[in-house]
Amino acid sequence: MDRNVEDYLWWRDGVIYHAYLRSFADSNGDGLGDLPGLIAHLDHLKGSPDSLDVDAIWISPFYPSPDKDFGYDVANYCDIDPRYGSLADFDRLIHEAHKRDLRVILDLVFNHTSDQHPWFLQSRSSRDNPKRDWYIWRDPRPGNRPPNNWQSVFGVKALEWDDQSQQYYLHHFLKVQPDLNWRNPEVRNALMKAVRFWLDRGTDGFRLDVFNLWFKHPDLPDNPRCLGIRPFERQRHIYDADQPEMRPALAEFRSILDDYSERTSVGEPAGRGHQPISSYCGQDQLHMIFNFKFSFCHWSPTAFLNVVRRWEQSLSNNCWPCFVLSNHDLSRHVTRYGGRNPDAIAKVAAALLLTLRGTPFLYYGEEIAMPNTRLRRNQIVDPPGIYYWPIYKGRDPARGPMQWDASIHAGFTTSTPWLPTHPDYRKQNVAAQLEDPYSVLNFYRSLIRLRRNSDALRKGSFRTLTKTSRQILSFIRETPQQQALVALNFTGRPAHLQLDDMLHSLNWDLALSSSPQAAAPRGREIKLGPYEASIFLSVN
Ligand code: GLC
Repeated sequence: MDRNVEDYLWWRDGVIYHAYLRSFADSNGDGLGDLPGLIAHLDHLKGSPDSLDVDAIWISPFYPSPDKDFGYDVANYCDIDPRYGSLADFDRLIHEAHKRDLRVILDLVFNHTSDQHPWFLQSRSSRDNPKRDWYIWRDPRPGNRPPNNWQSVFGVKALEWDDQSQQYYLHHFLKVQPDLNWRNPEVRNALMKAVRFWLDRGTDGFRLDVFNLWFKHPDLPDNPRCLGIRPFERQRHIYDADQPEMRPALAEFRSILDDYSERTSVGEPAGRGHQPISSYCGQDQLHMIFNFKFSFCHWSPTAFLNVVRRWEQSLSNNCWPCFVLSNHDLSRHVTRYGGRNPDAIAKVAAALLLTLRGTPFLYYGEEIAMPNTRLRRNQIVDPPGIYYWPIYKGRDPARGPMQWDASIHAGFTTSTPWLPTHPDYRKQNVAAQLEDPYSVLNFYRSLIRLRRNSDALRKGSFRTLTKTSRQILSFIRETPQQQALVALNFTGRPAHLQLDDMLHSLNWDLALSSSPQAAAPRGREIKLGPYEASIFLSVN
């Protein structure tokens, strides 16, 4: 049962925490989270008796940026925006994190830059500028029509007319986020230089933003249409995503990572492309690809199980799964599922995420069951939220300030936070939950500890026990030495799980439960109370 230290690989066996920097902790009272604030709160993550004890943090973009898409519009890949700190702060972060055995993953936004990036300023300045071909420029179609029918993810057409240089340029997000031309080797070299820059400074891995959009078909043909809600979803992205050139580009990126020891990568897939997303994961590709399918599930054991089974079937042996429940682009899962029992449901969801095969990514605040913040229209700052209101209210509700304690603004800042603090923060915060043995936070801490110490939970195979139950999701994780049985009651009614002969013949210890009344199985049956999440380990 003891963690085998020799064999422990941080990104495969550990838990990764998504620190959305702007909202994590503000050290200088400007209302915006920053690197010194993050450093001051590392104990929450690792290195103190009260820590969650995660293995790595992924930090959202901190590069200089006009901030039109909150840092995902980068104006310099090799520096830090002064609002977030400095390169010296970054070096201190690496030092402080590594001292605690905590790794640091950065966000690489390589599909596009800001329109204020010096590369784009030059590219736009004239048609014969040497950087013209660093972006994707095209003449109008006859009749002065845009070059094709492509749509941006954020609403408007993806080709924007530039008066200054009298051509269209491509942008898959805001028009201030022009897409780079990955077919130009100079672009590719400049981006790979940035990768080495951060690796040389001690970065342990990267999250690749919308990586499967990097290449576009060279002729930019029209995409075929399909059914969907927003304009981007009403096209099949056969020409603007998943182009064959992706694989060699990822192989080059991977070979750079492999020059360093124990580095990792995780890709954020965009859109419904025509390549199986899992094909980008493997020995000469990325280490992991996010699976976002949980975010589309309703709260039902069968829905969640189907996602896991499909992902398990589609990943090759060289691929390592990774799951998320929430992130900075999605609604927080406790708001999605929590209803009248947010804490109980948060525990069931946590027990699922942290016992599946694959690396769990936690989104800051989920460890205290932080919900979305309700915002009025005039409080929305996220561009797609402004554009689509009220059909879609944008991503701000899931990006509220971290709730540290009951002091003003939840201990996040001393001035006005960039987004409003959730009104419940006085009750729901890290300090209060540390004091309560039955809190969501303490449940996360126990789950992470259990996972760390159990070979079966980290490495074991995955086998389901329930197939279409309306109440229970249950599965076995198994290594030759150990079995873990996970039993999750998704409902507010008591439930029963029957054990087959093989499972019945084993001796089970209750390793952890969300219910103080839980007990080891007696006979062939496991009784589960309302919203009970229990994990049993076999004992020899
Ligand atoms: C990714 C990011 C999102 C950003 C977009 C454009 O989806 O997660 O926050 O707006 O890419 O960079």
